[in-house]
Formats: sequence, structure tokens, C-alpha cells
Amino acid sequence: MPESFFILSQEYLEIAIDEITALAKMYDRFAKTVVIDNLVIVQSKTNWQEITKRASFVKISGQVLRKMSGLFLDEENFGELKTAKTFACRIINLSSNEFSIPELENSMGDMISKFTNAKVDLDEPEITIYLIFTNKENFFGFSKIMKKTVRPEKIGSHPHELDWKLTRAMINLLGIREGEAICDPFCGTGTTLLEAESMGIHGIGLDFDEKMVKMSKENIEKNAFGAEIIQSDFQEIKNISNKYNAIVTDFPYGKSSKVSQKPENIIKKFFKIVPSHKKIAVMYKKELADDLKIRGLKTYQIYRHKSLTRTILIK
Ligand SMILES: C[S@@+](CC[C@H](N)C(=O)[O-])C[C@H]1O[C@@H](n2cnc3c(N)ncnc32)[C@H](O)[C@@H]1O
Repeated sequence: MPESFFILSQEYLEIAIDEITALAKMYDRFAKTVVIDNLVIVQSKTNWQEITKRASFVKISGQVLRKMSGLFLDEENFGELKTAKTFACRIINLSSNEFSIPELENSMGDMISKFTNAKVDLDEPEITIYLIFTNKENFFGFSKIMKKTVRPEKIGSHPHELDWKLTRAMINLLGIREGEAICDPFCGTGTTLLEAESMGIHGIGLDFDEKMVKMSKENIEKNAFGAEIIQSDFQEIKNISNKYNAIVTDFPYGKSSKVSQKPENIIKKFFKIVPSHKKIAVMYKKELADDLKIRGLKTYQIYRHKSLTRTILIK
């Protein structure tokens, strides 16, 4: 079974690891993952590029060619290089051992040059060969330049808008597939809808504020996406439940966005009326729902500053 590697940014490491795991299992339910610090090795029939396209926190990814017990290379590993015109070697040291990375990269480059006609190009190599050292085992793999993904653009923004990486990760943690639909009942500027649509997932947004509805519609149109936006109270989620597979949202918390009632009451009411069979990923200010008792879920805490910690809850 092919293996892929993903080096993740440390920003929200627990979410980043769970996102890769959720995506790997979404594409192939028999996928297996091994986590070594911020390195995730995925054993699955899904190509590493498929997972990378969707994921929010991947710094480097590629295919594992062969696990190594030491610094040992042999000719059979270089099939990928036979057709490449340019290459570069990179060492990633996640182990506690110290060694000179430039020296190792140079000698690895020299060694590889003997087996291939490809030339070294450190700026834009067609193939990058990676040697990843960890305290447990070492990995040898390669990566290719991927087509740059086009990020959704916004015409209008707002102080309360969500961080797009967290929004995207929330959708991915639920394992929502291309062609499915999510609903954001507090859509604001439409961040969740933009992320969903950019991954081929249909977005349905609700917001009771006319100004926010106009802004999210403009943002959707700017990207020529097909998300549907309705001016309505969030309770409309009960009536349109046949239109979506999951709810992904960021609850209003009273600062810089209008609220129809106290934010803590909105959250309580939401959990009373949300259709029980729907997947949900929601974010809220921690103290607004500290006493919520909901079973079968996972929470993540996002520390912003001493008076703001946000909770992401996945069900
Ligand atoms: C925190 S903001 C959402 C921000 C959004 N995720 C974004 O990235 O722009 C909360 C939104 O909830 C809306 N809202 C507040 N009370 C509502 C209600 N009862 N029903 C629907 N929308 C409501 C506000 O107008 C605001 O746009």
C-alpha cells in the first residue's frame, strides 16, 4: 500500500493531525496513519496530492519511497528521477540529533547525480527528494510541484470573520466529500461558504442581518461560486435540513456583530433544534458554552489572548 508523508505547521497541531486523518479516511476508509510529532505518515490508496489539495496546515508533502533505517540510498529508489529534468535534495530533521544539513544535502545531491541525468535546481526543482529524520525512524520520499490552488477572494471583509484555515479544517474534520453540502446558519461574510465551494462542496448560508447577507452574496459572486444565501434567523436550519449534510459555523459572540438575543441563549437554542443526525463543526467563545453537555464529540481549544479562548466542537 503506498505511503505519503505530510509535514504540518505547528500552529494548531492537534487540529492539523486530525484533519489529515479525517481526509485520509474520507478518501479511503482503510487508510492508516502514524504520527511522529508534526509528521504524519498515511498508508492509503489515495495519492498525497489529493489530500494536500484539501488540507489547511500542510507545509510539505509527498510520497514515501522507502523507509530507511539509516542514511542508505540505492538505485531502485530513483525511478521517479529518471524522467525528471531537475531535482533538489532536502533534509528535514525532526530528530534530536544535530548534524550539518547543508553538508548532508550536498552529499545526497552528489550521490543522486550519479544515478540520473536530472540537474540540480534549488529554486524550482521538478522533483524534491526528502530525507526525513525522526527519533523513531527515517523516511525517504519525493514531492513534485503541485498546481497552485486559487484562494477565494473577498470584496468585503469584517472584523468578526473567521480564519479561513480553521474554517477549512472544520469542514475537513467532518469528512465532507465533494458534491455534499454544508450549511452555515451565521454566515456573516461567507468565509465558510467560500471554503466549502472552493473544495467542490455546496454551501448554504443564513444570516439575519441584511448587510451581512449582501456582503456574503458579493463575496460568493466575486468567485463565481454557486452558494445559496438566505436572509433568515438560524432556526431556519430545521426547515431546510434536507438540503445539507452538515452544519459548519461560528456562533455570534456579541462583539462587532449584531445578535438577535444573548449569544449564550443562541448557542443553547441551536443545540436544542439542530437535527440530531447531522454532522456539526461549530466554534464559539469558550465561556459562552462551558456548561454544554453534549455527548459524542471532540473539542479543541484555540487560545487567542487571556480573555479570549475559542472552542471548536466536532460532532
Ligand atoms: C461571528 S459572525 C460570523 C462570521 C462569519 N463566520 C464570517 O467569517 O464572516 C456571526 C454572524 O451571525 C449573525 N447572526 C446573529 N444572530 C443571528 C441569528 N439569530 N440568526 C442568524 N444570524 C445571526 C450576525 O449577523 C453575524 O453575521
